[in-house]
Amino acid sequence: MKLGRLNHIGVATPSIADSIAFYRDVMGATKIHEPFDLPDQGVKVCFVDTPGADGEMNGTQIELIEPLPGNASIAAFLEKNPAGGQHHVCYEVPDIHAAKAEFLRQGKRVLGEPRIGAHGTLIFFVHPKDMQGVLTEIMEVGVTAH
Ligand code: CO
Repeated sequence: MKLGRLNHIGVATPSIADSIAFYRDVMGATKIHEPFDLPDQGVKVCFVDTPGADGEMNGTQIELIEPLPGNASIAAFLEKNPAGGQHHVCYEVPDIHAAKAEFLRQGKRVLGEPRIGAHGTLIFFVHPKDMQGVLTEIMEVGVTAH
């Protein structure tokens, strides 16, 4: 495994609209993307950009996640954390299938097959109990992603 860039931090929220106001008014976010539904994963998501080391808005993103009706896992998370909270972290890899094979080789529980994630590229999750307590998303990025 070659540790890649921290692409985003997933933050569950009961209200993306309220969270957008928070990141804009309290945190001073200047680039907040349009929220959109990911029906396959039962969530609405919204990306908030942060600056990278060069000052450009290409740093790690915050991924706001609000459950769509019928979503069980995020809804359960919000039941335990009514104000919302940190849900997962996401690292980039160049080859999703090689990354999956490597996690499996190390005995980690990969949750499902690689599938299209919120950025339109292949992702999978690794079980938090195998990842120091952190639900971890692995995301493939092409060479032209940044
Ligand atoms: Co994510």
